[in-house]
Amino acid sequence: MTASKRVAIITGASRGLGEVISRVLAERGYDLVVGARNPGPLQDVAESISQKGSRVVPVAGDVTDASVRARLVSAAGELGGLDLLVNNASELGDIGPLMEFDVQRFGRVFPVNAGAPIALIQLAVPLLAERRGLIVNVTSDAAQAAYPGWGPYGASKAALELLTRTLATELRDRGVSAVIVDPGDMRTRMHQQAFPLDDISDRPLPAVTVPFWNWLFDQMPADISGERFAAQREDARWLQRV
Ligand SMILES: NC(=O)c1ccc[n+]([C@@H]2O[C@H](COP(=O)([O-])OP(=O)(O)OC[C@H]3O[C@@H](n4cnc5c(N)ncnc54)[C@H](OP(=O)(O)O)[C@@H]3O)[C@@H](O)[C@H]2O)c1
Repeated sequence: MTASKRVAIITGASRGLGEVISRVLAERGYDLVVGARNPGPLQDVAESISQKGSRVVPVAGDVTDASVRARLVSAAGELGGLDLLVNNASELGDIGPLMEFDVQRFGRVFPVNAGAPIALIQLAVPLLAERRGLIVNVTSDAAQAAYPGWGPYGASKAALELLTRTLATELRDRGVSAVIVDPGDMRTRMHQQAFPLDDISDRPLPAVTVPFWNWLFDQMPADISGERFAAQREDARWLQRV
């Protein structure tokens, strides 16, 4: 047991951005708890990353399921504690005009994109507080711009942003920090779902964000708490004042 090793939970780690963040953290010596719904791809990623020497525990299931969230946090406890929680798993919901939106669908996009991250944070804070840890909530530029067709997804991310900044204030006295990261457009399955008829080969792969993540994980969490970052700024001026 190497209890002094740093430990991170990453949701949505079986592909796309979550897989990239997980690989960055493994390179930096973290042990990992990785989550996604489909067990096969998640297991494959966990095995591949663990070959670099990290302990990697896959937890398959939907982040809206309380028992899945409990397993994510208890797996971190079994690895020795928790330094970092990355809420990356997300769903698009329906892309299309609000006038045609089935409002029942709010019942999925808000719980996945805003509710589940907060519920996971509630469970994780006791462990994070022991190590003065960091919460990273992944957002989108759709949270700030009124893109036609993107209302419900953007609104759920806007909710996540305000909740994150509120948490950063509420958790300061417990020594836990929280930041928002907009990764920018990336060539992933989610992006292709958003633009099903488009050739998205001009968008960068999510590995484009690696320099940002290495910078972020070098920071003292308390120095950056409450801030919003854009991960694809070529000039490395990632901080965006809200
Ligand atoms: N791609 C972009 O251009 C872009 C732009 C701005 C922001 N973002 C944000 O970046 C983050 C990552 O997106 P991505 O493009 O990397 O997406 P992606 O390639 O589709 O990956 C999504 C990951 O989340 C998991 N997931 C989805 N819904 C889940 C749920 N309900 N419970 C548990 N796991 C779930 C998926 O695995 P399973 O399907 O097996 O569950 C997968 O591992 C998201 O927060 C997204 O909003 C992306």
